[in-house]
Amino acid sequence: MSRGSRSRTSVANVLVIGSGAAGLRCAIAAHQAGVEVVVIGKSAANDAHTVLAAGGINAALGTVDPEDSWQQHFADTLKEGYFLSDPRVVEITTREAPEAIRELADWGCPFARTAGGALDQRFFGAHRYRRTCFAGDYTGRAILGTLAAKVGELGILMAENQYVSRLLIGDGQCFGALAFDVMTGDRTVFLADAVVLAAGGHTRIWRKSSSRRDENNGDGIYLALQAGCRVADMELVQFHPTGMVAPEELAGTLVTEAVRGEGGRLINSRGERFMERYDAERMELSTRDRVALANYIEIAEGRGGPNGGVFLDITHRSKDFILERLPRMYRQFIEYQMLDISREPMEVAPTAHYSMGGVAVEPETHATSVPGLYAAGEVTAGLHGANRLGGNSLTETVVFGRRAGEAAAAFALERDVALRSRSTVAEAHDDLSSFIHDGAEFARPLQRALRNAMWEGCGVVRSQETLEHGLATVAELKGAVGDIDVRPSSEGFGDLAHVLDLRASLTAAEASLLGALARRETRGAHIRSDYPELDPSLCVNFNVVADEGGRLSVGSEPVPPVPDHLAGWAADSSEVEVAGRLLE
Ligand code: FUM
Repeated sequence: MSRGSRSRTSVANVLVIGSGAAGLRCAIAAHQAGVEVVVIGKSAANDAHTVLAAGGINAALGTVDPEDSWQQHFADTLKEGYFLSDPRVVEITTREAPEAIRELADWGCPFARTAGGALDQRFFGAHRYRRTCFAGDYTGRAILGTLAAKVGELGILMAENQYVSRLLIGDGQCFGALAFDVMTGDRTVFLADAVVLAAGGHTRIWRKSSSRRDENNGDGIYLALQAGCRVADMELVQFHPTGMVAPEELAGTLVTEAVRGEGGRLINSRGERFMERYDAERMELSTRDRVALANYIEIAEGRGGPNGGVFLDITHRSKDFILERLPRMYRQFIEYQMLDISREPMEVAPTAHYSMGGVAVEPETHATSVPGLYAAGEVTAGLHGANRLGGNSLTETVVFGRRAGEAAAAFALERDVALRSRSTVAEAHDDLSSFIHDGAEFARPLQRALRNAMWEGCGVVRSQETLEHGLATVAELKGAVGDIDVRPSSEGFGDLAHVLDLRASLTAAEASLLGALARRETRGAHIRSDYPELDPSLCVNFNVVADEGGRLSVGSEPVPPVPDHLAGWAADSSEVEVAGRLLE
């Protein structure tokens, strides 16, 4: 045990790791299935990354476009993901989305309504119809607040500031996790019959990211790999076309797609509305991969603005309209740049936004390959393929949060005897203690070096050369981890969390780089300058596993087939459109 820390034990039927929308929806489902649940999160209560999800959540409700159907939502998701999504996951998501959103509304989520009182829906990029429900441009915060209120009402136990260093695996099953309190260092051995990992993605490991510091560092990916799970599609990382470019310390902060959904136009330094050249039909509401690449090209070819971005202009809308539909954006630019977006355009550039890959799970239950371990939300792979449709991630959190919670509860209820290996718990304590020592390095500069390496090596456009350079940097940084200074101080145990974040980030980075090297083609958000064409033979999911020593290796599996009853909704995957990609 380390200096100054105490250890206690907590026992529940289901342990949920992560207090974002997926984690909370999961906890509600498990509680309603009749088991005892505890939810732990590393952030403060009600401030998980979900609060940053801005523009909306999708379901084919047909409020404003009655022609819409869940089958059309299925077709759009599958096609725009370049046929790398698991069609069964897409079917469940799109079929169950309407009920999941109505449930949130019934629980009090303040979604925007039409004059007639129905749930309003806006356009988001590459959806055939308006199917994105929203609460201004703070939809994630509204959903998280609604779920947190429900968790409170049901009396579900929640602990904040809990950093999980290891999942406990014994006798081939997951039986809990070891966590420490980031403020006090006190450790808790969380024992449970079933565990759900809802710990988010890994996009903070890119220099420009829409995630805040200390979130989405890949800790969920690390924990899953260490537990023996397979992770898939790690090379498929979504770059959102519009992140802030200034101030430098906030570069990458999201500028919601809702700005374009509400009529915002992208303009270069010559005043050209350049999307005409990339996707004349859909313009700014083209797919995210195309708009991100278009912004990237305009900037790279010298048609960007003074801060290295392009311009996003919504000045043709009135201030009242902007304050009603985009209130967070209005305040964000006033707050950080003293810029009134109803009078002047914003300067924006691509930013790492979403992990489309993650832990491989069973489509129906989201069980991982480790008995007793489930996963939900951004930490999983399956729904988004090579290009996520905006608004589908919030849908995924509530649909699969519920399913994973129900499945974990059922697993817990079926267990007669639970074995808890003392040696596994002791090893987890030793692992954690091994990081607390004086050293020559500090975690923060090494995190920065990794983020630079990922931005340059595995960014919007990558190649064998840049990816190999990225791998070499990861290897160098791994060598430095053992010599990082970790001193618990009056400020708490932040240094310990940072070094564990770095360990996790290096593993997530390596998995992404290996996947990206294996995928020798350009598909969706994965753009290889040395392989600019889509290769129809690579309609496969690359996956990564870790051996006992933590060494990673890559394999591949064919994408599961489209169920017969949906075959008519799935276009032929050999007919993926690549127009507008301009990679010559
Ligand atoms: O632009 C946005 O509001 C992001 C939405 C999403 O990623 O789903």
